[in-house]
Amino acid sequence: MTRNFFSKTFAAACLCIPALASGVAIASDEDTARELTVLLKSSRAVLVQNKPLIFDPQGAGISADKFLELAYANYESATGNAFAIGDGDKGAAQEMLVAAIKGTVADVVSGADIELSDDGRFLPAIFARKAATRFSEGSGGKMYLKLTTQDKYLVNEANKADDWERGVIEGKFVSDDWPKGETFAEMAEHDGKSAYRLILPEYYKEGCMGCHGGAAGEAIHAGKVEGNLGDVGGAISVAIYK
Ligand code: HEC
Repeated sequence: MTRNFFSKTFAAACLCIPALASGVAIASDEDTARELTVLLKSSRAVLVQNKPLIFDPQGAGISADKFLELAYANYESATGNAFAIGDGDKGAAQEMLVAAIKGTVADVVSGADIELSDDGRFLPAIFARKAATRFSEGSGGKMYLKLTTQDKYLVNEANKADDWERGVIEGKFVSDDWPKGETFAEMAEHDGKSAYRLILPEYYKEGCMGCHGGAAGEAIHAGKVEGNLGDVGGAISVAIYK
C-alpha cells in the first residue's frame, strides 16, 4: 500500500519535469507575482500617506531612499513580515521592482522627470504607471507589471487593459459572485508570448471619488469617469514570461 503510493508519486513527479521544461506555471510564479503586487501597493501608499510628495514632489524633502524605507514599513504592516529579497526568480523580480521604484521616485523628486498630472501632481496612479513601466522595461523581456482598470473608468489610455485583463476584470471581477479582493491567475498569452498571468482587483474607496466619481471627477482631473464607491476601480496585472 505504502509502496504503491510512493511509486505513484514518483511517477507523477517524473512526468512534471518535461512539463516544466516546456513552460508551464510553477508554484513559485504565484509567489513572485503576488510579491510584486504587494510591493507596488506598499510603495504607492507612501504617496497617499505623504500629501506633500503628491503636491510638491521636489519640495517635499523625501528622497528615493526614504521613500523605500516608508514603502518597506507598509509592506511589513500588510504582510506581517519585514521586506527581504528572496532567492532565485522571486529575488530577481523584487530587486528589479525596488530599482524601478527607486528610479521613478529619484527622477521625479530631482525634477529629471516632470511628466506628472496636468497640475503637476505626483499622483499615486502616476507613480504606479511609471514604476510598473520601468520594471517591465528593466526586466529585459522577462516580466510585466501594470495598473489598469475597466474600460469605462479609464483615465489614461496608457493604462488601458489588454484583452485578457479586460476579460478577467469585466467578466469576473465585476460579478457579484466574485469574492472581494480575490486574484485570478492562469497561463495565457501576453505580447505574443506564453506567460503566467495574475491579476488583483482593487475597489473605489471614499478618497477616490473626488477624482473618479461622476461630476466631481470631471471638475477635478480624472476625466469623465463616473465610478461609484465599491466598484472595481482598478487592477494590478502581472505577467511572468515562460
Ligand atoms: C487627485 C485625483 C485622484 C484621486 C484621489 C485618485 N485618482 Fe486614480 N487617477 C487619477 C488620474 C489623474 C489618473 C491617470 C494617471 C495616469 O496618468 O496614469 C488616475 C488613474 C487611476 C488608475 C489607472 C487606470 C486609469 O484609469 O488610467 C486607477 C486604477 C486608479 N486611478 C484608481 C484609483 C483609486 C482606486 C483611487 C482611490 C484609492 C484613486 N484612483 C484616487 C486621479 C485620481
